[in-house]
Amino acid sequence: MQAMGSLKQFWRKVALPSALWDNFPVATVPAQTDSKIQPYDAIPSTGNAWINLIRFWRGNHFQQMHQVMLRNFQRFGPIYREKLGTHDSVNVILPEDAAQLFQSEGILPSRMSIEPWRAHRRLRNHKCGVFLLNGEDWRSDRLILNKEVLSPIGVRKFSPFLQEVAADFVTLLHRRIKKNARGTLTVDLYADLFRFTLESSNYVLYGQRLGLLEENPNAEAVAFITAVETMLKTTLPLLYTPHSLLQWTKSKIWQEHIDAWDVIFSHAEKSIQNIYQEFCLGQERKYSGILAELLLQAELSMDSIKANITELMAGGVDTTAIPLLFTLFELARNPHVQTALREEILAAESQVQHDETKILNHVPLLKGAIKETLRLYPVGITVTRHPQKDVVLHNYHVPAGTLVQVALYPMGRSPEIFKTPDRYDPERWLKDNNNFKALAFGFGSRQCIGRRIAEVEMMLFLIHSFHTILSRGPYLLKTQSSSPTSNTKNLQQSKLLPKPARLKNPTCGLAA
Ligand code: HEM
Repeated sequence: MQAMGSLKQFWRKVALPSALWDNFPVATVPAQTDSKIQPYDAIPSTGNAWINLIRFWRGNHFQQMHQVMLRNFQRFGPIYREKLGTHDSVNVILPEDAAQLFQSEGILPSRMSIEPWRAHRRLRNHKCGVFLLNGEDWRSDRLILNKEVLSPIGVRKFSPFLQEVAADFVTLLHRRIKKNARGTLTVDLYADLFRFTLESSNYVLYGQRLGLLEENPNAEAVAFITAVETMLKTTLPLLYTPHSLLQWTKSKIWQEHIDAWDVIFSHAEKSIQNIYQEFCLGQERKYSGILAELLLQAELSMDSIKANITELMAGGVDTTAIPLLFTLFELARNPHVQTALREEILAAESQVQHDETKILNHVPLLKGAIKETLRLYPVGITVTRHPQKDVVLHNYHVPAGTLVQVALYPMGRSPEIFKTPDRYDPERWLKDNNNFKALAFGFGSRQCIGRRIAEVEMMLFLIHSFHTILSRGPYLLKTQSSSPTSNTKNLQQSKLLPKPARLKNPTCGLAA
């Protein structure tokens, strides 16, 4: 087929680290006819699942899964079967295939199970929250949670909390800049942004400030952040390995995973206890976060509230910190985008007389910037579904129940799908046809429930940054790193620098 042919040519041209791939089995791509639907077994495949798993373990390739997929699309075309240990999935890249898939998801969309997380819940006798539930159990919890977490009314209630934390964080940075005699500041953004997002999540969920934006954060909060990082890092290798094998071998990585979840759960438990006690004291009632609303409504059991709040807490920290980091990085590399955003935000501010929650409706380019960051650096590299009925994807028959993954990272970087994909261009989201291209938060009734929290948190952070630091005074964002990689550590050293009187080096990343 025409589209498939040109896409394959592109993938072959893309320069990728080849060392990783030299030992991988190459499958052949069967010839396709346009009209006849091909059987499932004809989908090109990566070969033996267990040999692949051994290679992954040996080469520690789990952290490069996005590159693995990119390379596999390059090799096989826009649809292939990824066989890795316990997993056998059909991976697709084209927006039209994503559309087909989501149309067949039904009213109870089912996502890939994260077995190591479920195993922890079984081991500790905890309930599962919406992330891990499926079927009617998922739907009934989700409908209750939607009201407080995702609906416009819920968003209106918690937005002022996010605004307060964003303002505090930016004021803190501004104070640090002013303290420095040279008026410059090297920021450890990686750690700072994690503290910012943890403070925001904690406030929105529990209605309580943790005090992380003070100079010396408390040890418990640092332990929580470390636990979230460990939990995420250990998830991928565990995901593809039979669980019984891990328990049987008492593997170190499995123990680390369990310990990390235990820290995350005990953080939630302590916070829930605190709030519950305040409730029992019968203090004056005003909105004090999502947990308090769930307790008051009493529609979910206490165990379900705990399970869901823990998932929201664990899911809300790195997911938002990393895209913010990449947004600042891209703004530093693209001064013209920095300028355009500054102008948009200042104009919006004067239009709504500094009511930040209203500003959110007047900043389309800022929204585009966040989409653009998530296109290039999606937090979850795939959106997964088990279709409820048989579906035809890219002319192949895919039976109901098959695990299908829409590969976001390769999609975001394909020139067939996005013009000049390497360019950071928020405007593309304002003008092009973007159907089924903005999938970073998933799709439909199963999409990310924390989407609005994340979007509002990121937008308010950027609005306050432009308002306090990047617009007033001569401060500009600059990065010391010239190329983004998946290794976010490269971004740790970004600088807030004074704007030079004259631009000496137009390639250095400072705006005129
Ligand atoms: C930029 C930030 C974020 C991104 C890109 C993101 C992405 C995603 C994606 C792709 C899914 C799967 C959706 C699907 O299957 O269609 C998801 C689900 C979920 N996310 Fe997020 N997320 C983000 C922030 C958050 C935050 C801040 C929270 C919590 C406050 C959160 C909590 C959850 C939960 C609980 C689910 C499971 C929902 C369900 O299955 O019903 N996420 N997220």
